[in-house]
Amino acid sequence: MRQALSALIDELRRLKATGVKTVTVSESALVAIHRAVGSWRQEGAGLAPAAVAGAVVPAPAAATSPARVAAPEPIAAPPRPPPAPAVMLPVVAAASLPPAPTVTLPEGEKAARWAALQQRVAADPVCRENVRPGKKVVLGVGALDAKIMFVGEAPGAEEEIAGEPFVGPAGQLLTKMISAMGLKREQVYIGNIMNWRPQLPTIDGREQVGNRPPTEAEMRYCLPYLRAQIEVVQPELLVALGSTAAQGLIGFGAFKALGEVRGRWRDFNGRPLMITYHPSYILRNPSNRSKRMIWEDLLQVMARAELPISDRQRGYFLDK
Ligand code: URA
Repeated sequence: MRQALSALIDELRRLKATGVKTVTVSESALVAIHRAVGSWRQEGAGLAPAAVAGAVVPAPAAATSPARVAAPEPIAAPPRPPPAPAVMLPVVAAASLPPAPTVTLPEGEKAARWAALQQRVAADPVCRENVRPGKKVVLGVGALDAKIMFVGEAPGAEEEIAGEPFVGPAGQLLTKMISAMGLKREQVYIGNIMNWRPQLPTIDGREQVGNRPPTEAEMRYCLPYLRAQIEVVQPELLVALGSTAAQGLIGFGAFKALGEVRGRWRDFNGRPLMITYHPSYILRNPSNRSKRMIWEDLLQVMARAELPISDRQRGYFLDK
């Protein structure tokens, strides 16, 4: 439980770093947080009762201005939820994840190697245990001869249903970004650091609302599967979308803010790697300025991949 709460605080930190000032929390999520805090306190964590009140999620210690949460009325005295057992998650706690898998691919055609990898991931007991009933473990998708491989963070609600990365709102935006580059989604390869949707507590087994970034342990567990996909596809270029992907590829703690590392070429095991923002950043900040920042990174990717670039493309999102 401590881990889920730390993940929540990490996510608030991350949102704050990207400029998000307020976070709206549904009634059910507040109840889940309340219960989670309750069970954490029972575990002896001793969280201050103020944090349980629900009106304001406690800001991380380092934060200067706390992330405000628009709580449902009444703000001052939220209703106490009925006593409930601690939320039980059908997950392998990240801290107790077994060592990362060793992935050995068969020799042969790319399609056969990829199919073997998919079978391996789908049968991985840790991946399976971290996926809720009825949801899917997710491997990458796309052209096995793609020049460009995009790497995202983790499946979300839509992806764990479809079993395919980037099919929800962020995915639809990524597909548009790819077509702005003059490519079709089917011409690139799209993967994620994670093969499962990082879980958050839900009440009584209900559907998960919202996402959390994966923990380092979760990422370390899944990374061999991403490396194996790179080994199969052999893309010329990699594009990391957002902080999680960047951390997975260039190292944990390699940067504090994504702005420090985006927009410059790096190397990932001999392949050029461009780091840019995650499409969900644009969904949260749909200004031309934000779009232009990502677009400039993608123009560099296009140039390096020797894709044609028209004057029109060069000028996208320059208007204020
Ligand atoms: N965000 C990601 O990073 N990956 C997905 O597959 C979907 C949303």
